[in-house]
Amino acid sequence: MKKTNHVNVKEMGFGQLFEQISPEEISDNVFTLVGKDFFAITAGKADHYNSMIGSGGGLGVLFKKPVTWCVIRADRHTLEMIEKERTYTLSYFPDEHREQMLFLGSKSGRDSGKMKEVQLTSVQTPSGDMSFKEARLIFECKLTELTTPKPDDFCTQEAKDYVTEAYKEENHYRKYVFGEITHVWVRK
Ligand SMILES: Cc1cc2nc3c(=O)[nH]c(=O)nc-3n(C[C@H](O)[C@H](O)[C@H](O)COP(=O)(O)O)c2cc1C
Repeated sequence: MKKTNHVNVKEMGFGQLFEQISPEEISDNVFTLVGKDFFAITAGKADHYNSMIGSGGGLGVLFKKPVTWCVIRADRHTLEMIEKERTYTLSYFPDEHREQMLFLGSKSGRDSGKMKEVQLTSVQTPSGDMSFKEARLIFECKLTELTTPKPDDFCTQEAKDYVTEAYKEENHYRKYVFGEITHVWVRK
């Protein structure tokens, strides 16, 4: 991936910054992408959008389509917006922007101005979904499945205990969010 750090990304348009690749061309390791790098999940359009940080889930194939899946707590504002808009992005950032990225996971956009405060530059994809100019990899997704597993759906005691504990508070249950990957963008 070429570096464009020497230019002012804030002044560049989406087409200058990103090029489309196929899901098969993604060269990142999936366990690093999901479990170590983490990612910003963003839903909404230019006039109103919201992001949170995700750390679980994965990439795979569902009904012959490339998909991402995320595990999102039911009370997240971003989840509400995914359900409403039906499309969203997952954005991955270089280390230099990690602190700002993690800021998106520090408070809810429902009752804060975090999307205005964050020092990342929002950008609209050609399809109208929202991401950030500082991202190095973006998946645009179309919501395909929302599932809420029950503690009894898990087959190990460890998982049952974890889920039972996690579900104790109202609205703390987790939704598994599957989205077909409609576009993959990488920084030029
Ligand atoms: C490193 C990190 C990983 C996170 N992973 C998840 C996750 O996988 N699922 C989830 O529901 N929340 C996760 N969170 C918490 C949300 O990102 C956080 O509560 C966020 O402020 C929710 O914002 P929202 O209510 O504006 O959507 C994570 C937070 C951090 C800092």
